[in-house]
Amino acid sequence: MQAADWDARYAAQQQWSGDPNALVAELLGDVPPGDAVDLAAGEGRHALWLAGRGWRVTAVDFSAAGLARGRARPGADRVTWVTADVRGWDAPPASLDLVLVAYLHLPGAEATDLLRRAVGWLRPGGRLLVLGHDADNVAHGVGGPQDPAILHSVARLAPVAGLLDVDRLEQVRRETPVGTALDTLLWGRRSCS
Ligand SMILES: C[S@@+](CC[C@H](N)C(=O)[O-])C[C@H]1O[C@@H](n2cnc3c(N)ncnc32)[C@H](O)[C@@H]1O
Repeated sequence: MQAADWDARYAAQQQWSGDPNALVAELLGDVPPGDAVDLAAGEGRHALWLAGRGWRVTAVDFSAAGLARGRARPGADRVTWVTADVRGWDAPPASLDLVLVAYLHLPGAEATDLLRRAVGWLRPGGRLLVLGHDADNVAHGVGGPQDPAILHSVARLAPVAGLLDVDRLEQVRRETPVGTALDTLLWGRRSCS
């Protein structure tokens, strides 16, 4: 989907997402604040939540409509909002304590290239959190994109995980009002050595 398609999706409904994803909140809840980038931030639910916990957050998304929603919410002045295609956007090397990538779905090679670059933006010990719909969700879960070519899996994230000290790389279940969804989680740290 292009930026215009996402703009149209956001325009078609009031507010998509407000609270952070429960697993994101669980994993990041105890991490001391620092410098973070939320890639494909959408309406900024995670960027705003992180900023409220003291993080200095840059929220990047190519949908101006999505970011406009975030900018209109309380606490938005504590977030740096950047309208850009993440495939061509870069943070300075070794500048970040956290890169969060939640429910961004790109074709496999593009996703791997982006996530490899994102690892390079992390300081030693900095964390990468990738969470999104798992390929198995199409047959065994609910909601989400139905094109397996853009969905995550443990195998597809393995090359990126290989660049990290990995805490978790696994398929996870997410309960929704319409049933159980299957996501993939990658949660790891850039090596300090
Ligand atoms: C399902 S939403 C997830 C938003 C947010 N991460 C969250 O969890 O609430 C996917 C977002 O990815 C953004 N996106 C998709 N491809 C992108 C790209 N190439 N560059 C920047 N943003 C992109 C869309 O505009 C949309 O806001």
